[in-house]
Amino acid sequence: MPQVLSQQQLRDIAKEFGTPVYVYHAERITEQYEQLKNAFKSIDASFFYASKALTNINILKHIKSIGCNVDCSSINEARLALLAGFAPQQVLYTSNNISFAEIEAAVELGIHINIDSLSNLEKFGKKFGHSYPVGIRLRPNIMAGGNLKISTGHNKSKFGIPVEDTGKVLQIMKNTGLYIRTLHIHTGSEIKDVEVFAKGIEVLLELVNHFPELEVIDLGGGFKVPYASGEEGTDIPLAGKRVAEELETFEQKHGRKLKVWFEPGKFMVSEAGYFITQVTVLKHSGDIRFAGVDSGLNHLIRPMFYGSYHHIENISNPGDTELPYTVVGNICETDTFAEDRMINTIREGDYLVFYNAGAYGFEMASNYNSRFKPAEVLVKNNVPQLIRRRDTMEDLLKTQIVHS
Ligand code: LLP
Repeated sequence: MPQVLSQQQLRDIAKEFGTPVYVYHAERITEQYEQLKNAFKSIDASFFYASKALTNINILKHIKSIGCNVDCSSINEARLALLAGFAPQQVLYTSNNISFAEIEAAVELGIHINIDSLSNLEKFGKKFGHSYPVGIRLRPNIMAGGNLKISTGHNKSKFGIPVEDTGKVLQIMKNTGLYIRTLHIHTGSEIKDVEVFAKGIEVLLELVNHFPELEVIDLGGGFKVPYASGEEGTDIPLAGKRVAEELETFEQKHGRKLKVWFEPGKFMVSEAGYFITQVTVLKHSGDIRFAGVDSGLNHLIRPMFYGSYHHIENISNPGDTELPYTVVGNICETDTFAEDRMINTIREGDYLVFYNAGAYGFEMASNYNSRFKPAEVLVKNNVPQLIRRRDTMEDLLKTQIVHS
């Protein structure tokens, strides 16, 4: 059974550090990583944690301490990774639609780069020729992912170089002497169907023989974790088996060995995170029981942005009768976290916990309505430690230039 934080631990943390607060469980992150390593141990696989899911530097340090690498989606994430102690060769920057100047900055840092446009690829080839190995982000034209907003590999997606433009990539390679080491795809987030990964690797393997210096197939992230009870995540051991099968067939046929990289975000940190809020107001309107909490879409935007489900528990009154509640935030918008959700009887002052809050929770938080971002706490060896303090008024004004 995977490790979880107990309601008692969460109540104690809420009391000690106040609410709203994000809580992360280090050992759970380690467990997720071990699952991946085990499932893919028959092939030469490496994992680059997609840090966009959660970038607190203490989380990055933990990720490094367990031997995992890191994937970044901006130059600043790459800089954070280096500050956290990763060596440049442990850092991958999978970019999309960035300026060439940012690519040059990534070269300065000495990290791996996946380039996603023909125009940047050409500039890269002209400037660096064969001197700096590079990856190509391709768009495989595969529709996959939990919803359209998080589907990135389909044929109308902005991401990557359309796979039908491979000929143009080869032309640039020929003209500039580019050293193409990696072929990358990322088809989307929350992909349950293992066959999507198998199909992805097939698309890439078909192209490999055009790239004599290719060493790595990068399949991106997207493993699904369960959010609702009864929901199933990606069958990770099966994914390991299927990818290994595809790779073995290729190796036998072509006598070429390849490494496989993955960039898991949600899989690594989603279930390791809890978001604790406190009920500020109960309001009845007709049949609707509103439970208003001291948070809103400014702190956890996933339910409003993607219609995502987050399991909610009342950890202050766990044994009591369940009633339907509509859980809402305090932002001046309709920020509904859950509608008519069965939750143990709620009283004002109770703590409500949102589960699966580790990935894209704090990371997508904002100061909308000039509210403070929540604090973050990391529990390691059963010891909770504050890893980000709550904002203050000074933080809100810090970057403003106040004129008289
Ligand atoms: N690699 C690349 C190139 C990506 O674009 C992403 C996610 C990942 C890896 C990691 O995907 P994951 O393993 O986390 O599914 N904010 C959305 C998810 C956006 C994902 C963006 N790209 C959400 O909260 O559902």
